[in-house]
Amino acid sequence: MTPEHVDHLDPAAADAAARAAAHEPPSPGEAAEELPVASAADTARALAQVVLPVAARGAITRRPRVVGALDRVDADARAVTVMQHLRDRYGPGPVQLRLGARRVALVLDPSDVHRVLDGTPEPFRADTREKRPALGHFQPEGVLASDPGQREVRRPFNEAVLQSGRTVHEIGDRTRDVVREEVAGLREQLRHDDVLDFDRLVRTWWRVVRRVVLGDSARDDDALTDRLLRLRRHGNWAYLRPADAGLRDRFLTGLASRVEAAEEGSLAAVLRRTPAPPGTEPVQQVPQWLFAFDAAGWALARALALVTTHEGAAARLRDELGTAPDLPYGRACVLESLRLWPTTPAILRDTDRETSWRGRTMRAGTSVVVFAPFFHRDDATLPQAHRFAPELWLRERGHDEHPLVPFSGGTAICPGRNITLLVTSQVLARLVEEHDLELLDRSGLSDGPLPGTLDPFGLRFRPHPLDG
Ligand code: HEM
Repeated sequence: MTPEHVDHLDPAAADAAARAAAHEPPSPGEAAEELPVASAADTARALAQVVLPVAARGAITRRPRVVGALDRVDADARAVTVMQHLRDRYGPGPVQLRLGARRVALVLDPSDVHRVLDGTPEPFRADTREKRPALGHFQPEGVLASDPGQREVRRPFNEAVLQSGRTVHEIGDRTRDVVREEVAGLREQLRHDDVLDFDRLVRTWWRVVRRVVLGDSARDDDALTDRLLRLRRHGNWAYLRPADAGLRDRFLTGLASRVEAAEEGSLAAVLRRTPAPPGTEPVQQVPQWLFAFDAAGWALARALALVTTHEGAAARLRDELGTAPDLPYGRACVLESLRLWPTTPAILRDTDRETSWRGRTMRAGTSVVVFAPFFHRDDATLPQAHRFAPELWLRERGHDEHPLVPFSGGTAICPGRNITLLVTSQVLARLVEEHDLELLDRSGLSDGPLPGTLDPFGLRFRPHPLDG
């Protein structure tokens, strides 16, 4: 109900409706009705098709075999259909799933996405009961799993080092050089091999990432990032698996030495000279950066699939390299990859008190889920839902617009979004600079609606030199 409908109601109802629209609690004496709870059948369907696939893929690091299997059944398209059904049946929601004593609330209305993300960390806490044990395996003091008090110092520190508000970080020029060198090396390998597959791409990607985060001397330190990968695999099991404190200590000690030794032009060098008030734990912020660059690699591979199957996109990127070195179109292509196939599909919050939603209540301690694919792919509200539409990102997006939230939004929005877009767009453009890449084994990306799921690990490209 919108405020303009209020006039036609009796005064008490009008008052309740106006407060509800503003998400205020009911007045004393007014019965507070709970938000709708999904039927047993709808709960089972939402669990099987929305919640479980997210967990099965691996929340902290992906399980490639599961990703491949979910790709074959176009799992995210099914999940979006289930969410649309829930909205049709229960209204704007959020709709609650009752799981034993626990409540999980699925956000269904675009305005509620903004409300939840703007209301972080209170009443919507980001350090949810899932994240704390999962991230504790490798970064117990990282900002993402920090309580609201710790967040007050750690969040500004992350923003300061990652220069969140700047489109191009101060290490931008150096980053461009690193990318140019590493992609040139990859191109050299491709002279002898005729396929660029995900594994090859990702080896180059990690060299770039280690140089950008930890400096040139860390370029080949696979041992460090492999150790993190092992700990992240443990993280997928959250509290079901005890933390391996020995491995975690070895990883964090090795990381601290790398941060100490990092050359100028890296994020770690910026970290060293950024003031860190007590409680910041600077080194423990870095695993999140490395871990999150992994997702950026998947987004890059999928962006490459989009660019190489859409007429004119690669040519436009090449052109941009010469005319607009900040690559606005390249960044928009990566954002489209993330809109179409979000690498963080579920943004999670726990409520720390009772909250009111259009006059109906949600209990304290409820887990709130913003399922990004629903908002990114809802063809009832977004005409571009299933096609490649970089133009969505080529203009400033207003706060209250339809939520496209690959990097989340509000007060906990990803502080690494700009550095992510800088590095990925540079690699993307350099990859097509001298080659036309032909996407193999994957029909249907260039015509018709794009699939709901795209397994990045299976992507393969055949390079054709431009002058050949
Ligand atoms: C494709 C790449 C990436 C995506 C899609 C992504 C997305 C996200 C999302 C959705 C969140 C959760 C925010 C929330 O709970 O509301 C987040 C948090 C965060 N991201 Fe990223 N991220 C990416 C890469 C990066 C990189 C490369 C860095 C650092 C260099 C980074 C640093 C962080 C940090 C520190 C947080 C925690 C913020 C907080 O809790 O306040 N991210 N990111």
